[in-house]
Amino acid sequence: MRVILVTGKGGVGKTTVAAATAIRTADLGHRTLVMSTDPAHSLADAYQVQLGDASTRVVSGLDAQQIDAQQRLEESWGAMRDYLTDVFDWSGLKGIEAEELTVFPGMDELFSLASVRDHAESGAYDTIIVDCAPTAETLRLLSLPEVMSWYMEKMFPVGRRVAKVVRPMISRVSSMPVADEQVFDSVARFYERLDGVRDILGDPDVTSARLVMNPEKMVIAEARRTYTYLGLFGYAVDGVVVNRVLPDVVTDPYFERWREIQGEHLEAVDEGFADVDIRHLRLFDEEMVGIDRLRVVGDELFGDTDPTERLSEGHPFRVEDDGDNVVLVVGMPFAEHSDVDVMRHEDELFVTVGPYRRSIVLPDSLRRRQVLRAKLTEGELRVTFGTVE
Ligand SMILES: Nc1ncnc2c1ncn2[C@@H]1O[C@H](COP(=O)(O)OP(=O)(O)O)[C@@H](O)[C@H]1O
Ligand SMILES: [Mg+2]
Repeated sequence: MRVILVTGKGGVGKTTVAAATAIRTADLGHRTLVMSTDPAHSLADAYQVQLGDASTRVVSGLDAQQIDAQQRLEESWGAMRDYLTDVFDWSGLKGIEAEELTVFPGMDELFSLASVRDHAESGAYDTIIVDCAPTAETLRLLSLPEVMSWYMEKMFPVGRRVAKVVRPMISRVSSMPVADEQVFDSVARFYERLDGVRDILGDPDVTSARLVMNPEKMVIAEARRTYTYLGLFGYAVDGVVVNRVLPDVVTDPYFERWREIQGEHLEAVDEGFADVDIRHLRLFDEEMVGIDRLRVVGDELFGDTDPTERLSEGHPFRVEDDGDNVVLVVGMPFAEHSDVDVMRHEDELFVTVGPYRRSIVLPDSLRRRQVLRAKLTEGELRVTFGTVE
């Protein structure tokens, strides 16, 4: 079983890449499901077929599904939402604002991602490809199951018991709505839905994330942050796709400057994603929609390789606690002690090994710390960061 998450900023070509990858895996004989959890569904547009919340056959061996997040949310969170609406109502907050507050941002996608587990457990598919919501959203969501389970484990058993005792008393003395059994059931269901999702998505043997970007400054910057945070939360990114690269056949002088600019950005991509597989996809001369054109995209992207294989191995970096200090550990299997140079500039760490340069976007938690020392041992660079000033 393999799960491939495709993510990146809006409009970069996520759906195109996810849809093309899915056709490719199906053509190779893997029973494939491609599902979109991005509320901006466009799988149906990409394939030029009708799709809905239920999985629908697209071509032999390939099903597609556009998850109706609202419906999933209603099933799992309905009672809790109603309760929260009552509480907000009681506190004087009414209408749309109150309604919006009963669902935290990205919650709908959280439930959509829970469907990955259902499909994984069903055994009906060899490969599940997820066309995710844009970067930041997905990130937070992916990191949530762990936080949530901690929270729920701490709060839930107690909360239920306390409410049983407290409810009759509160409702006598105050008009604040008190949670009833249904609300707790709703919370329990929420927890159950998320349980196990993180195990699947966080297992590098099962799940690989692929970042799609364009050769543009802001897009790359965001992709690099995503890369850092996915790494931090233990999700394996094994490849990136740089989409809309100007092909050599374009010789029009009008695009000369653009080609230079793209060239510079492509170098930045090589430095920032040195540890993962990097693929370029050209800017086609038409919109790449429909099964046939997406097959062309899949061919250009993967050639003879199987997209379900891990495109690169190993964790590019990890963060370890060392008392008050924190150590950023970067894999550098071929580096010799003498030629490693580490330089910090704002939120970036530049590591130079001979002619080879690599840069890492630091997570916010490390940004506020000073670099104390860097040491190369057993193929790993260990950069120690001191306490927060
Ligand atoms: N390399 C490409 N060449 C030409 N058109 C492309 C290319 N990549 C994407 N497109 C088109 O750009 C539009 C947006 O792509 P899409 O995959 O839907 O982006 P996202 O899912 O990231 O929002 C679509 O109409 C798609 O057909
Ligand atoms: Mg899309």
